[in-house]
Amino acid sequence: MELNSPEISSVLTTEDINTVASLAREIWTKHYTPIIGSEQVAYMLDKFQSPSAITKQIADGYYYFVIAQDEPIGYLSIKEEGDTLFISKIYVSADSRGKGYGNRLMRFAIKQANQFGLKILRLTVNKYNTKSIAAYEKMGFSNTIEVVFDIGNGYIMDDYEMMKTI
Ligand SMILES: CC(C)(COP(=O)(O)OP(=O)(O)OC[C@H]1O[C@@H](n2cnc3c(N)ncnc32)[C@H](O)[C@@H]1OP(=O)(O)O)[C@@H](O)C(=O)NCCC(=O)NCCS
Repeated sequence: MELNSPEISSVLTTEDINTVASLAREIWTKHYTPIIGSEQVAYMLDKFQSPSAITKQIADGYYYFVIAQDEPIGYLSIKEEGDTLFISKIYVSADSRGKGYGNRLMRFAIKQANQFGLKILRLTVNKYNTKSIAAYEKMGFSNTIEVVFDIGNGYIMDDYEMMKTI
């Protein structure tokens, strides 16, 4: 039996925002704890993916979307930055990875970039997040440069910046 197509919908209501925050908590805790440790994960979840942080980002021009296959399985956040679309977040639940949902979200981001008239996609990824870097390379991202962000409390984000022209 074939699965129905996943649905991608805008995050608009408090309930939607809570859905993103809970996806983030589940995905980030599992994925980032081995990379950056549980204390930094907790700090970053609180700073960047709490319901109030997401609400503020949306007010500041970030767009959030949830991808659902019967139930929510991932999310995307994008922002227009000059001639570039910044892919701020792209996450798929561990059980749903490797099944094309990341590609779906990326195609959706490209459609949004086209609507905004933007020709470049940009994202940042932790240097040690090797599987995601490999996925981004398959999706056509390159020009990797090193970027370090001080995120407070003695923590840094030790990232690569990757770009794709569309
Ligand atoms: C990165 C991520 C969003 C990709 O989503 P996904 O649903 O797993 O990706 P898809 O199944 O659509 O695969 C996309 C492409 O990447 C490739 N890919 C996916 N995982 C890969 C891996 N671990 N190693 C190598 N290539 C991989 C796929 O083969 C596919 O390429 P193809 O179209 O040429 O076949 C997802 O794996 C994820 O959420 N990872 C953990 C969280 C994370 O680090 N997010 C990024 C933060 S910057």
